Amino acid sequence: MIVAKRVVLAYSGGLDTSVAVRWMTEEMKVEVIALAADVGQGGDWSAIEERARAAGAVEAVVADLRDEYANDFVAPALKANAKYEGKYPLISSLSRPIIARHLVAAAREFGADAIAHGCTGKGNDQVRFEVSSRALAPDLEVIAPVRGWNLTREQSIDLAQQWGIPITVTKASPYSIDQNLWGRTIECGVLEDPWEQPPEEVYELTTPTATEPRDTVIRFRQGLPVAIDGHEMPLHELIVEVTRVVGAYGWGRIDMVENRRVGIKSREIYECPGALALLMAHADLEDLTLERDLAHEKARLEPRYAELVYDGLWFSPLKAALDAFVAESQQFVTGEVRLRCELPGRCIVSGRRSHVGLYDYGLATYEAADRFRHQDAEGFVRLWGLGVETWAARQSRRER
Ligand code: ARG
Repeated sequence: MIVAKRVVLAYSGGLDTSVAVRWMTEEMKVEVIALAADVGQGGDWSAIEERARAAGAVEAVVADLRDEYANDFVAPALKANAKYEGKYPLISSLSRPIIARHLVAAAREFGADAIAHGCTGKGNDQVRFEVSSRALAPDLEVIAPVRGWNLTREQSIDLAQQWGIPITVTKASPYSIDQNLWGRTIECGVLEDPWEQPPEEVYELTTPTATEPRDTVIRFRQGLPVAIDGHEMPLHELIVEVTRVVGAYGWGRIDMVENRRVGIKSREIYECPGALALLMAHADLEDLTLERDLAHEKARLEPRYAELVYDGLWFSPLKAALDAFVAESQQFVTGEVRLRCELPGRCIVSGRRSHVGLYDYGLATYEAADRFRHQDAEGFVRLWGLGVETWAARQSRRER
């Protein structure tokens, strides 16, 4: 039984959430406050605000969360080299908890007793919104109108027209898109056949436009990128810049079948040149700067970290504990990584350096500058293999 009187809705400006504003107002007799979160997806924010009011929202708020999203959500995931199932850099998974945080804050500010989202029942995003909201504000109700209303797209368009909601449904794109600073996700249409090759038209961030090869140097400080080609900038701007630079080479696409939390396998297309380039550069710098045992243990924890985030457990005790581990590990992940971009669709690490790197030329070289104590190796190797040697000797005795 829904008893809420005022609801803060995560408002995207699209068809579903616009219809949801009016639908909740009419059907549930609640006041709707529309919160539109700018996490770097781009859009005409004043038009979105206007549309929310036209749909019947009593308040419409646009929150510029780009800086906070980059620093509080993308940054920890980058430090953790977080990729779900080894591939997906958690684009949508990272944005839902920050939106939930702001839904809760708005609910407090406007005296609302519920939050709402426009997710369907088949996806991960409902899980992320709801688990995050319960973690932050167990007293708030969660309403998911789209999950319950069973409207086809055509019916939603009709309702929007009937209610005078200004939705420009241009040649109804067959794709379902989600986008933020960290990348772009594309689902539905022909992509639902995992054998079908994605048409070039689905891509926006990875259209090859470059003509010449390019080297780009990313500087990291304590695990986070701080400058590109010597220009320091805030993290959210740097991500946009790397996305632009690397995406121009047509690099940064992922085509995968993934396991959703709700038990469905789905075919997903991602384009996230900035995320993939920064994750690659970061992991490479760790190879240079992390001590061996720390590197190996961190690598064991990284898939777990990605799973927690994917599964909607951003605000959870295990995730917090892993964050502490990861943060400690990044103390000396400082230095530079050079990326080489070439056509068609190539981006690789072509060099790395750090004044706190653990690569020691004197130890590694085969040249005259060699400082490695060769004589130590003999005893070390003998003891290292002693157990196996003893075992092997017994085996051969038994054979006789
Ligand atoms: N499969 C991805 C994930 O679960 C992308 C989800 C995209 N969300 C959307 N509402 N289109 O994170």
